[in-house]
Amino acid sequence: MPMEPVESKTQVPAATQAVVFTGVDELREYRASLSGTLALIPTMGALHEGHLQHIRHCRSQADHVIVSIFVNPTQFNQNDDFQAYPRTLEVDIQACSDAGATCVFTPDAEGMYPPDQIGAQIDVPAISQMLEGADRPGHFQGVCRVVVKLIHVVRPDFVSFGRKDYQQLCVIKAVVDDLMMPVRVVEVPTVREADGLAMSSRNKRLETEQRKRALGLFKSLCAGKRLVEEDGETDPQAVEQVMRSVMESHQIDVGYAVVRHPKTLGELSCIEPSLTGGVIALVAGRVGPVRLIDNMLLGADER
Ligand code: PAJ
Repeated sequence: MPMEPVESKTQVPAATQAVVFTGVDELREYRASLSGTLALIPTMGALHEGHLQHIRHCRSQADHVIVSIFVNPTQFNQNDDFQAYPRTLEVDIQACSDAGATCVFTPDAEGMYPPDQIGAQIDVPAISQMLEGADRPGHFQGVCRVVVKLIHVVRPDFVSFGRKDYQQLCVIKAVVDDLMMPVRVVEVPTVREADGLAMSSRNKRLETEQRKRALGLFKSLCAGKRLVEEDGETDPQAVEQVMRSVMESHQIDVGYAVVRHPKTLGELSCIEPSLTGGVIALVAGRVGPVRLIDNMLLGADER
């Protein structure tokens, strides 16, 4: 059964309390007892409206929805970032149930990474070493490893990822495609606060004044979109320069502000949206101690 586009307004079945499993073997046993279609939503918890949107959409399309909540140590290259990651498990489980999840999988580190395990590595070097991968070496190998493990344990028909983490989405699509994994990747558009800030678990760490400055990421993307779509700018460097200066005017410590090919994430010599199906603008920056990312399709509407 093909999954409907995310925009469809299908009825979400009434929520019942989700079952919760921590053990990998218990989860496998539960999965084996299910019939019908199954969607998996991998998360690291500290759930917000963006995550809940994945649950509602998947629930409207699949018979069962499993949300995994696991702060994955292998994708953090700085221990303090891992330690500082917000953890709100009890509230998250209730939110999953209320949004229509049928099961919450909350494995522990020993379950996912048994101490005696000889570790495998999964990577998509052509797109994992740039941008986020350059700032956080090994990050995407950690993401790929845990996502492939989760898919093998849960054996879902659909696995849901957000466009908010655009490079992650590209990496996962490449892994699923190249390794011929029998699962369909569902893309969920970025859910934003009323003023445009992309929802993120990291936003909880922003102080009031930092929260105002953080809006500079979204504003820089909007400025890039206007330049391309209204002024017809075709020079990527000109757009990147404007995006960077908008971020700097909000006192954001810019990591990158780039315009890339929407599929390969490769650099462009000229912006020709009609040839590439739009171009993707990607920004990253530090607001105080918090590193935030965002992106927007320029020259085309998000589906
Ligand atoms: P996490 O940051 O918890 O995100 C879980 C999923 O929610 C990802 O697919 C992410 O892109 C999506 N998401 C986050 N914010 C969103 C927003 N504002 N709108 C729409 N979707 C949003 O991404 C991870 O966890 C991890 O890397 C993971 C894939 C779980 C592997 O550990």
